[in-house]
Formats: sequence, C-alpha cells, structure tokens
Amino acid sequence: MATVFVLANQKGGVGKTTSTYNLGVALADIGQKVLLVDLDPQGGLTFYAGFEPEELGKTIYHCLVRNTPPEEILVSNEYGVDLLPANIDLSLAEFELVNAPARERRITRIINSVRDNYDFVLIDSQPSLGLLTINALAAADEVIIPVSCEFLSVRGTRALLKLIAKVKGSLNSKLKIAGLLPTMFDSRTLHGREILQLLETEFPQLSVFSHTVARSIRFAESARARAPVFEAKIQVPGALAYRELARELVKGNNRISLFGRKVF
Ligand SMILES: Nc1ncnc2c1ncn2[C@@H]1O[C@H](COP(=O)(O)OP(=O)(O)OP(=O)(O)O)[C@@H](O)[C@H]1O
Ligand SMILES: [Mg+2]
Repeated sequence: MATVFVLANQKGGVGKTTSTYNLGVALADIGQKVLLVDLDPQGGLTFYAGFEPEELGKTIYHCLVRNTPPEEILVSNEYGVDLLPANIDLSLAEFELVNAPARERRITRIINSVRDNYDFVLIDSQPSLGLLTINALAAADEVIIPVSCEFLSVRGTRALLKLIAKVKGSLNSKLKIAGLLPTMFDSRTLHGREILQLLETEFPQLSVFSHTVARSIRFAESARARAPVFEAKIQVPGALAYRELARELVKGNNRISLFGRKVF
C-alpha cells in the first residue's frame, strides 16, 4: 500500500509543484508506482505533466464534489506517472463543500480507494491553508515542506507547522513531517547559506534534507517544455537532489530511515 506524501507550504512559488513532479518522475524511474494528485486550482502540476487543465472534462473537483470515482479521471503520461488532474473548477470545491459531511476527509476517501495500486502518492497542495490543504494533510502519512532559501520562507513555515499540529490533533494523529526541502538554493550567496543555517536553528525538531535543490533557470524551462528536469540536454544542478530524495523515500518506505528524521 502506498505511502502518501503531501508537499505543502502556504507561501507561493517555493517549488511545491516542481518538487512534486520531479520527485514523482524520479520515483517512477527507479521502478516505483507513483500517483500524483493535483490539489491546486491553478492546475500547475497537471500542466507540467503534459495535460491542458482547461480541456479536461472531469477532474479532481468531480471526485470531491460529485463523488466521481478517481479511476474515471485518472490520466498517465510518458514519464511513467499517473495523475489525478485539476483545473480552475477546483476553486469552487471549497465553497460547495461548506455544509458537506466529513468535508475534511474527502481526499482521504478518494486516495484510499486507489492507494493499493501504488507505492507512492504525492499530493501537490495550493499556496493557502484552506480546506483543500487540510484535506491533503488529513490524507497524508507524511509532509514534505519545500522551503525556498530566502528569509520570508522561514517565517511562513511557522504558520504551516501550527496547522500541521492542529490537523495532527484532530484529523490525522499519525501525520509526520518528513522534513524541510530547501529549494532554489544558491551556494554562491551568503544569504542562501545563512538561510540553511537559520532553518536548522529555527526548527531544531525538524530534519532539513541534506540534498538542497539548487536554483536553476532550467526548472522554469522544464515546466514550459512540460518535461521533467532530467530531460534537459545539459545536466541540471538541482535535479540530482530529486533523485537522491527519491532514493531516500524508497528506503523510508521500507521503514529504514527517512533523512535521519526526527519525528515531529
Ligand atoms: N530550483 C529552482 N530554481 C529556480 N527556479 C525554480 C526552482 N524550482 C522551481 N522554480 C521555478 O519557480 C517558480 C515556482 O515554482 P513552483 O510552481 O514549483 O512553486 P509552487 O510552490 O508550486 O508555487 P505555487 O505556490 O504558486 O503553487 C516556477 O517558475 C518554477 O519553474
Ligand atoms: Mg504549485
């Protein structure tokens, strides 16, 4: 049965979608069965995976609000990952589910109905702490927190930790934090190195993944080309971090250790 990870950070543009997709492809490349779940109405993950969000008839919105079985919306791409896609319809879900029973557990139900088919489920969440993110946290075994190496990211992480603690207390007592994944790291700047240190001192209870994702324009190019970053003709510094993280997750899946994690 799959381990379910959510990549969460309410700060926008920290690399959640980029990390979800490239980590998913890296896992598929080492033989894992991977399901990606786009839980962001922007549909960035759906686009990156090669689909036109606005041309899809049915999306995760239909599973959430209309009880459409996930098999009906599931798509696969040439890089070996399956996807439950999203588009702008998803922005209505929060509003339409206001009075729905167990509205925080809708994603849990959807994922549980397919998780036996996979080794890993990776959920990309939107940059807010609303109902969709709470659904994702309720459904997950572990949270990976991508943090861009700049000061405001560190501040935002505190709010996320509060929400995670709340979800743990009410909806999902088994939820763990796998670790902080530093993204957009520029080793040439003092600021980048200082932020890494700050992450360690500010969040001593959390692991900081040691393979930081370097800043590279190739990530934006890869999203535009809708090809994982590993496809770039020139080796991308930073891509390796996703390969390493994939290997760590596979080890963790066997319950050996996940980046030497301390449990939150
Ligand atoms: N390591 C990196 N180096 C440079 N640019 C990157 C890196 N990772 C991602 N990017 C770029 O930064 C932008 C934001 O990344 P991404 O969409 O993955 O963030 P996000 O956290 O999912 O954003 P949102 O909160 O809007 O969903 C994109 O243009 C992406 O291509
Ligand atoms: Mg995103």
